[in-house]
Amino acid sequence: MNNDLHFNPFSLAGKRVLVTGASSGLGRAIALGCAAMGGELVVTGRDAQRLATVLGDLQAVSDLPHQAFQADLRETEGRDGLVASLRSPIDGLVHSAGISRLCPTRLMSESHLQEIQAINLQAPVLLTQALLKRNLVANGGSIVFIASIAAHIGVAGVGAYSASKAALIAFSRCLAMEVVKRQIRVNCLSPALVETPLLEATAQVVGSMEAERGNYPLGFGKPEDVANAAIFMLSGASRWITGTSLVMDGGLTIS
Ligand SMILES: NC(=O)c1ccc[n+]([C@@H]2O[C@H](COP(=O)([O-])OP(=O)(O)OC[C@H]3O[C@@H](n4cnc5c(N)ncnc54)[C@H](OP(=O)(O)O)[C@@H]3O)[C@@H](O)[C@H]2O)c1
Repeated sequence: MNNDLHFNPFSLAGKRVLVTGASSGLGRAIALGCAAMGGELVVTGRDAQRLATVLGDLQAVSDLPHQAFQADLRETEGRDGLVASLRSPIDGLVHSAGISRLCPTRLMSESHLQEIQAINLQAPVLLTQALLKRNLVANGGSIVFIASIAAHIGVAGVGAYSASKAALIAFSRCLAMEVVKRQIRVNCLSPALVETPLLEATAQVVGSMEAERGNYPLGFGKPEDVANAAIFMLSGASRWITGTSLVMDGGLTIS
């Protein structure tokens, strides 16, 4: 037991954390939350302008040498460029880059499946591989994949997306067994609907999400809710946890 009144088991001081999808939504909130907990951030996304704004926001949180790298993570060059830009090993890695597309199975095209798999599954798997191959994840590090409640429940029209997230969870368990000898931990977060631009895009397709909101006893999530869970998974507070997927859904699945 630590008797220091200032001891904070969730502190990220002294840790470097790479966050993908940091130009928007959950990734942005995770990056800012990690910086507020003392972490040094490497943020990546495709939109140069929004990424630069996030870097500015990080610099306003702390004067650590935060870094931004623009890349399309579906492309080998994008992933390799990001990996080459790292100055030293990272202690934390959060895969938040991803897309959601709705389509009933009967109408699903091969390109629809490929588009979703490319960024939601292949990109995080291949980026993790590239980092591990170059020993760029420090011993004792923590890898977090942003999966989804869609991997755990059935929702009509979300098959390709759900499958990509379920595959990510299955992959993360195997990876956890491969890296545990270096005390590297691997976990997933499985949020239900969180108020981000991705949710706004979904609302535009289906008309409105207000009926769905009624299924959430605690309402829709806020990006900060997921950021706090990511901080926990990246920090020493979760040192005994690996190979899990944390469902965070405002009570959706118990109601
Ligand atoms: N919001 C929710 O309700 C919810 C619930 C469960 C799970 N999730 C998951 O959480 C993650 C983040 O979602 P969000 O709500 O934060 O969405 P968002 O606001 O749309 O942000 C998505 C992020 O992914 C990046 N991205 C997309 N395609 C990319 C590519 N090819 N290469 C590099 N980066 C790419 C985007 O970069 P640019 O914008 O710069 O292109 C953006 O930073 C996703 O994996 C999503 O499946 C979200």
